[in-house]
Amino acid sequence: MLNKLTNLTKTKKVTTENFELDLSRVPSHIAVIMDGNGRWARKRGLPRIAGHREGMKVVRKVVKRANELGVKALTMYAFSTENWKRPKPEVEFIMKLPEQFLMAYLPELIEENVRVRIMGEKEGIPSYTLKAVNEAMDRTKDNDGLILNFALNYGSRYEITSGVRQLAKEIEQGKIKSDDVTEEVIGSYMMSKEVGDPELLIRTSGEMRLSNFMLWQLAYTELWFTDVYWPDFSASDLDKAIYDFQNRGRRFGGV
Ligand code: FPP
Repeated sequence: MLNKLTNLTKTKKVTTENFELDLSRVPSHIAVIMDGNGRWARKRGLPRIAGHREGMKVVRKVVKRANELGVKALTMYAFSTENWKRPKPEVEFIMKLPEQFLMAYLPELIEENVRVRIMGEKEGIPSYTLKAVNEAMDRTKDNDGLILNFALNYGSRYEITSGVRQLAKEIEQGKIKSDDVTEEVIGSYMMSKEVGDPELLIRTSGEMRLSNFMLWQLAYTELWFTDVYWPDFSASDLDKAIYDFQNRGRRFGGV
């Protein structure tokens, strides 16, 4: 059975219920837009926050499966710079999730050699959220397994704007010449510099847009959409996304 597989990294292929994954071609960095929590809850006559709570548990399942398969980094879009427009109680609830998540799962994450990171504008994030994330980052800083990178108070245009502003300042100060500005240099001013560009982007809930997420980094990323709402997303949905990824021809603009 799917979740009872052990020693995955010792075998080259994994046969799941319907397909076979090639473990030597698992995307090293997967980014996820976790969408559909509100609709999941509404369908059940529950408040929206019930969807977010359930969504938090799914993050754990997906991290576990990604780690088993040898994924090196997972970037999860937990809160965007636009999400502040939501009702205050919902914002407060979402901002408490990192603390709850880490309280429940940090020991397991440490055991599994996961390293926790955060990507986003720190200003504006409540202090209790930052405290929990900073503690998790500190306690996992020496781990060299999967990087669990939470995009929190993240917006890609904001990221690009502040990166370019910083670069412009350094050009003004003579620290870098404008002729030396390459794609790599710009990439190094992005908040994702530790995890790099995703090879695969997953978005749940049937929406087909990027919602200001990693616009610079997604230039050559394979995009995978599913109608499944995030709280219903499972380890086998992750397998399916990876299987589809493995069956695409990536040409990066070549033939
Ligand atoms: C989008 O669904 C979801 C969010 C804005 C919040 C995402 C957060 C989680 C899944 C939990 C994160 C967990 C941790 C550990 C930080 P939506 O509310 O927009 O759904 P809708 O489109 O159906 O209304």
